[in-house]
Amino acid sequence: MAIKFYPVCEVDELPQGERLFIEVGDMPVALFNIDGEFFAIADVCTHDDGPLGDGEIENHQIICPRHGARFDIRTGEVLTLPAVKGVSSYPIKVEENMLYIGVEE
Ligand code: FES
Repeated sequence: MAIKFYPVCEVDELPQGERLFIEVGDMPVALFNIDGEFFAIADVCTHDDGPLGDGEIENHQIICPRHGARFDIRTGEVLTLPAVKGVSSYPIKVEENMLYIGVEE
């Protein structure tokens, strides 16, 4: 499958420590700027479909606000119960001050 990149916003619109919520197709996706690095994961917890993107962040772990499962924000990998499956993660690239999200097609 090829990855196609779509423009999301200007880099300045997602400052350090902030989050941005978008839709990719039907999937809600949360974008993060952590110390100047950009990450994007599905905003749906695999445990009980709760929104994940508002969770607390510790280092590169996001903690689901509902029952506390942790995921690696860089890869979507699940780290702790009660979730047992990772969430999708999406590549981000920056070109000429624009952020682009990569989606498999
Ligand atoms: S919905 Fe995320 S841990 Fe339960």
